[in-house]
Amino acid sequence: MFGSHLLLWASLALLNLTNVEAETASHTKKTMVVMEKRDKIPGNFIKTGIAHNDTLLQLKIGLKPNDRSGLEKALFDASTPGGAQYGKYLNTETVNSYMSASPSAISAISSWLIENGISESEIRFESKGSTGDWLAVSVPVSVANGLFDTEFHSFAHKRSEDTAVRAMEYSVPRELLEHIALVHPIVTFGLNDPGNSGVAALAIGHGVPRGTTVDINAAEPIERAQEIDENCATEVTPACLQALYKIPKTPATQKSNRLGVPGLIQQWAQIADLRAFLGKYRPDMDPNATFSVETLTGGEDPQGPDKAGSEANLDIEYTVGLATGVPTTFISAGCDNCDGAHGFLDVVEFISNQTNPPQTISMSYGFAEEDISPELARRICDAYMALTSRGVTLIFGSGDAGVSGAIPGNETTCTSFRATFPGGCPYITSVGGTEGIYPEVAANFSSGGFSNVFSRPSFQEDFVSSYLENHLGETYAGLYNRSGRAFPDIAAQANNVQIVDGGNFPSIWGTSASGPIFASMIALVNDRLIEAGKPPLGFLNPFLYSNSHIFHDITIGNNPGCNTPGFNATQGWDPITGLGTPDFEKLLFAAGIEI
Ligand SMILES: *[C@@H]1O[C@H](CO)[C@@H](O)[C@H](O)[C@H]1NC(C)=O
Ligand SMILES: *[C@@H]1O[C@H](CO)[C@@H](O)[C@H](O)[C@H]1NC(C)=O
Ligand SMILES: *[C@@H]1O[C@H](CO)[C@@H](O)[C@H](O)[C@H]1NC(C)=O
Ligand SMILES: *[C@@H]1O[C@H](CO)[C@@H](O)[C@H](O)[C@H]1NC(C)=O
Ligand SMILES: *[C@@H]1O[C@H](CO)[C@@H](O)[C@H](O)[C@H]1NC(C)=O
Ligand SMILES: *[C@@H]1O[C@H](CO)[C@@H](O)[C@H](O)[C@H]1NC(C)=O
Ligand SMILES: *[C@@H]1O[C@H](CO)[C@@H](O)[C@H](O)[C@H]1NC(C)=O
Repeated sequence: MFGSHLLLWASLALLNLTNVEAETASHTKKTMVVMEKRDKIPGNFIKTGIAHNDTLLQLKIGLKPNDRSGLEKALFDASTPGGAQYGKYLNTETVNSYMSASPSAISAISSWLIENGISESEIRFESKGSTGDWLAVSVPVSVANGLFDTEFHSFAHKRSEDTAVRAMEYSVPRELLEHIALVHPIVTFGLNDPGNSGVAALAIGHGVPRGTTVDINAAEPIERAQEIDENCATEVTPACLQALYKIPKTPATQKSNRLGVPGLIQQWAQIADLRAFLGKYRPDMDPNATFSVETLTGGEDPQGPDKAGSEANLDIEYTVGLATGVPTTFISAGCDNCDGAHGFLDVVEFISNQTNPPQTISMSYGFAEEDISPELARRICDAYMALTSRGVTLIFGSGDAGVSGAIPGNETTCTSFRATFPGGCPYITSVGGTEGIYPEVAANFSSGGFSNVFSRPSFQEDFVSSYLENHLGETYAGLYNRSGRAFPDIAAQANNVQIVDGGNFPSIWGTSASGPIFASMIALVNDRLIEAGKPPLGFLNPFLYSNSHIFHDITIGNNPGCNTPGFNATQGWDPITGLGTPDFEKLLFAAGIEI
């Protein structure tokens, strides 16, 4: 299916070339419209001068999907409980027909490029099916300046002094606006060196005991139906989570059910650490339980104590070690941000290209939403939409810096709260962090807030507007975007989580733990659904919000940042713990499985 577009493109281009030659003489200068604009240089870069005319740029023109809103409607029809189409996910061909570019878009854009002196052989059509098509061109700065009506400059990364050639804005012909989604990379900065990228593994400070963030003694005790070991308040293990969230220990049975765990920034999952983890924390499990590995863009998974990545180990230990018996795949992306999107574009393209992608994906990485251009954020989010429409659930940690976002900003200069990406994308489920048992409270690092790019989806409108009207009022007006998609959606334990890493047994904190914990629960629900001949849960959010009563509401704690105490956990949805923490039995029941 990926190949057929290539053939189509070849014949179109030939056809078009003749048209262009005939028309060139009568062409007047096109009206250019600014497509994307960046107000200031990202803080970690400085401008070093005008880019050399001869420098060759590798640019990709993202083509608008044929029918984005058609796919969005089909997705909501398939994911909204109660509807006639509920659970009837789309097949790849259907998704591709919505997401791929129309032949007229391809021909109009290539005509424009050819008119501007770019030879046909230098235009490469990259069919990405369900994640959106691209036209790739390699052009010298002198040509790109004219083509996009801009001036490319060289920018140096302050710390590494690596350079990037970028522009602060770019334009495209008005008549092509309907066909072009973005041109990349121009206004999104980003380098290939993992140390310099803004992407964060959402578990930091491992080994650094953090204590509890709320004075639990001062809080009202909250009744729990079941007894839980008090040590779980300070040492979270799989047994604690099984008791707290009623996660079954019995192995899953369905071999077609899969859990996918992407790894970025040279975070490598270790088999020896997993063995030690299972030996200590899951003595009831098959001691040889392991994970498979898939790689993309030169990714790998080398083994050895010095190769251990605490993020990858956490993610694998709390999936293999919690989603008992669910086949789990570590998906290692090599080049951190060769895609200029911290690897996120590469990872979603890779997974979307699979005939049978994992039904549940847990990804504990994120970055500041403002770090990439709004159009690039939309591009990746649309790719998530396409993937979820096939019945895949995407789960991400919400971020670890409270209202400051993915990573702490400069608190002294912070002028507004920062959303995390992809927390603001409506098609993923964002998981905030909690800690403690009696009561379970919000972790103070749990990120949450409001997107500046994505508007609020209908599934959460009532919950969020109720929070804004009844709890927040005018507080923080101007610091956050009242109309934005709000996150997180739900929450799970995120502090004092016990892992094995490079042979050591540290305690970690971060919403990186919350994501895999919840993803494991969804994978186990899917196991039962598949066993019963039912479709998997797929795009989760409409299901979660229409079953808000099944969550354990978290009402204590706040998430400071930006020189403020942040938002409060409250009764009902809040931008720190979402709807609350999960209960497996209630999830299963809501999904239609009688226990
Ligand atoms: C770069 O190209 C532009 C237009 O082609 C020209 O005006 C300018 O002088 C060139 N700059 C240098 C440094 O050669
Ligand atoms: C969060 O709680 C920890 C542990 O009590 C504390 O060290 C840290 O300063 C708190 N963070 C903020 C931003 O208040
Ligand atoms: C685990 O693997 C080892 C070595 O491959 C084997 O000897 C052992 O029997 C296996 N254990 C179980 C419980 O399957
Ligand atoms: C998609 O899958 C095909 C066939 O397995 C492969 O040749 C191609 O490289 C893949 N593309 C991506 C983007 O992974
Ligand atoms: C934060 O901003 C202040 C004021 O601009 C500056 O003096 C300080 O060095 C910055 N701190 C960091 C860690 O960048
Ligand atoms: C607020 O969010 C909306 C999307 O809901 C967006 O269009 C708007 O630009 C955002 N405002 C700011 C100031 O970023
Ligand atoms: C959070 O709760 C405290 C204590 O009730 C209150 O003083 C504060 O105004 C609340 N803040 C927000 C942002 O809701």
